[in-house]
Amino acid sequence: MPNKFQQPSQAMLEAADFICKGGIGGIPTETVYGLAANALNPSAVRKIFEAKGRPFIDPLIVHVCDMDMAESIAYFDADAKKLADKFWPGPLTMILKRRECISDIVTAGLDTVAVRMPAHPITSQLIRTTKLPLAAPSANPFGYVSPTTAAHVREQLGGKIDFVLDGGECKCGVESTIVMMTSSPKKLLRPGPIPPDAIEKALGEAIDRSPKKNEAHPEAPGMLKSHYAPKSRLILFDDPAEIPPDFEGEIIYQKRPDSPKKRDYWLSENGGQEECAHNLFKLIRALDKNSKFGFYCQRASNSGIGLAINDRLSRAETKLK
Ligand code: TXA
Ligand code: MG
Repeated sequence: MPNKFQQPSQAMLEAADFICKGGIGGIPTETVYGLAANALNPSAVRKIFEAKGRPFIDPLIVHVCDMDMAESIAYFDADAKKLADKFWPGPLTMILKRRECISDIVTAGLDTVAVRMPAHPITSQLIRTTKLPLAAPSANPFGYVSPTTAAHVREQLGGKIDFVLDGGECKCGVESTIVMMTSSPKKLLRPGPIPPDAIEKALGEAIDRSPKKNEAHPEAPGMLKSHYAPKSRLILFDDPAEIPPDFEGEIIYQKRPDSPKKRDYWLSENGGQEECAHNLFKLIRALDKNSKFGFYCQRASNSGIGLAINDRLSRAETKLK
């Protein structure tokens, strides 16, 4: 992977050219792959919604490579600067008051914009090369599980987009933590790799960890009850005793069972939460391709990135009820 000082590769230069000309393409981040367009070009941004089948009421995150670019699209107060200082580049998205250059199509007409500085060298280099902020949702058809490899992006969107930059498997495997900075108290809109404790510690104040969800006007439509879902039936469990003995589908455990059976799968060898998050969407996607009877998946413990794992699992489950 290129570092800060390496020359851009041919693939990078082609991708940059597509972005500058109003094209769209897959980009790697440390969380999941994004589907990017020039955030300052409304007709390019429109193509993202069309490729994903995403409703225009669902605003996008804008990705930047440095603080100058971040401050050119949104207003940062002292708290926002504190979090940027502590967690960027990294898997934190802040909802901030937007500046004029960001159009309604990006923000769904809201007066706020979601801003994030991703920590993946390829995408940082793409943003530096184009000198453009990139609007990018996760690169999956709307409502489906997010992609964590370039192959996932090609499989589902390959025919509809101009390029995919391959940056390997995404390190975190679940989408960024989203914090609304413009409300009082500040709100956790989506749990992610950075746990709420770390945010509160950095801010020196409590945030609302489970803001009331308004299904008609959700503050983050990704927070809709049913989202991030596979096609197959998915049922959650805590204790394996909850699974009917005659169940013939696949079972996903958080850690390797002592004596695994034929259709048993696990997200980690020993229950390490980061490893579980890293593998979650990849495994669900793989099983979803051929599952006949659907699958059971064990909940994570409710702390750290386990909060994000359980959040995504419960949305995936709800869809089928
Ligand atoms: O890790 C991530 O955040 C990935 C990578 C590609 O950066 N992106 C991602 O984007 O997950 P997306 O579009 O799948 O989810 C962004 C969420 C959506 O639920 C959207 O509704 C919410 O952020 N959002 C965006 N702008 C917002 C705003 N101004 N106010 C409230 N929510 C907003
Ligand atoms: Mg998404």
